Amino acid sequence: MFLPFFCQSQNQTNMLKKTLKWTGIILLFLIIGLAAIVLLNQNKKYDAPYPAIKASSDSAVIARGKYLVYGPAHCADCHAKPGTEEIVNSGAEVDLPGGRDFKLPIGHIYPKNITPDKETGIGTISDEAIARSLRFGVGHDGRALFDFMPFHDMSDEDLTAVISYIRTIKPVSNKVPDNKMNLLGMVIKAFVLKPVGPTATPPKSVKADSTVEYGRYLAMSVANCNGCHTDRDLMTGAFIGEPFAGGFKMESIIDPEHYECQSPNLTPDKETGRIYGWNEETFRNRIRQGKLIKHSPMAWGPFSRMSDMEIKAIYKFLQTVKPVNKKIEKTFYEKKA
Ligand code: HEC
Ligand code: HEC
Repeated sequence: MFLPFFCQSQNQTNMLKKTLKWTGIILLFLIIGLAAIVLLNQNKKYDAPYPAIKASSDSAVIARGKYLVYGPAHCADCHAKPGTEEIVNSGAEVDLPGGRDFKLPIGHIYPKNITPDKETGIGTISDEAIARSLRFGVGHDGRALFDFMPFHDMSDEDLTAVISYIRTIKPVSNKVPDNKMNLLGMVIKAFVLKPVGPTATPPKSVKADSTVEYGRYLAMSVANCNGCHTDRDLMTGAFIGEPFAGGFKMESIIDPEHYECQSPNLTPDKETGRIYGWNEETFRNRIRQGKLIKHSPMAWGPFSRMSDMEIKAIYKFLQTVKPVNKKIEKTFYEKKA
C-alpha cells in the first residue's frame, strides 16, 4: 500500500518540476521577446507631411513671432536655460538654448536648443522640419515628440512668424542631452507614444482681435490654457476631464519631491469656478500680476506680456465655456508621504 503511493507522489513531483521548468523557459522567452520589442521600438520613426512654411525676413512677421515666442506661445518658459526661471517669471526676453530637465514618472525629457546654432541648435534644420515638429509632433529625426507643445492647430501665419523670429536670435552653443527614459518610459515609448497632430486642417491665418473666436484660438492652440486647465492622464497626456474644469495635478517646479500644484476650474460655474464673478479688469489685472505661487508651473511671466486685446479675447472665450461643477479645494499643497 505504502510503496505505490510513494511512487505516484514522486511521479507527480517530477511532473511538477517539468511543468515548472517549461513554464520558466517560456516565461523567459516571453520576457526576452518583450524586451526586444521594447528596445527595437525605442528608435521608431514616424512620417508626417512637411508643412509649406518658409521663414520670412519681413520685419512685421518677425515682430509678431517675437511677441508669440516671449508672450502667449511661451516658448521661453521651457526653452530657456536652467536657472533662469526667475528671469522668465519677470517676463524678460532670455536666450533659448534649452537644457531644462523635466523629471517625469517616465524619465527625463529635455527641451531642445532652439537658437540658430549650427551644431547644437536648429541651424541646420529646415523651416519645414521645424514646422512639422510643432504641427505634427514628429521631430526632425522622425521621433514621436512627447506632447509638451500645444501648437498643432496654430495658423500657417503664426507658425511662419515664430520660425522667422527664432531664425534671427543669437546662436548659443549648448548641447542638450538626449531624453533618458526609465523602464516605464521605454514601455510607454514602445507601445503608447504616438505623434500628436492637428485636430483639423489648421487655419491659414486667424484674425487677431478681441473676439471669442480669437480667444478660443489662443487658449486652445497657442497659450495652452486648455492643456493645463483640463484634467489629463500624466502617463500619456490624454485629456480625461471636462474642458477647463481644472484638477490636473502637476509637480512643483521648485520642489517636485514635496509639493504639487493643481489647476483651478476656469469654467463659469457659479459655485466652483475660480474666475466666476471676475470682470474683465479683474482678470486682466490678475494676468498682469504674474506668478504669486512660486511653485506654479503656469507660464505667468510670458502671459503677463500679452496685449490687453488678447487678454480680453481669452476672458470673453472663457465666459462661453460650458460651466462644470467641480470643486478644486487647493491649487498648491504639500504631497502626502
Ligand atoms: C511646455 C514646454 C514647451 C513649450 C512651451 C515649448 N516647447 Fe519646444 N520642446 C519642449 C520639449 C520638452 C521638447 C522635446 C520633446 C521631445 O524630445 O520629445 C521640445 C522640442 C522642441 C523642438 C525640437 C523638435 C525636434 O525636431 O527635435 C523645437 C524646434 C521646439 N521645441 C520649438 C519650440 C517653439 C518654437 C516653441 C514656442 C512657439 C516651443 N518649442 C515651446 C517643450 C516646450
Ligand atoms: C503649465 C500649465 C498651465 C498653463 C499653460 C496655464 N495654466 Fe493657469 N494655472 C495653472 C496652475 C497649476 C494654477 C494654480 C497655481 C497658480 O495659481 O499659479 C493656475 C492658475 C490659474 C488661474 C488662477 C490664479 C489665481 O490667482 O487664482 C487663472 C485665472 C489661470 N490659471 C488662467 C490661465 C489662462 C488664461 C491660461 C492661458 C493663457 C493658463 N492659465 C495657462 C497651470 C497652467
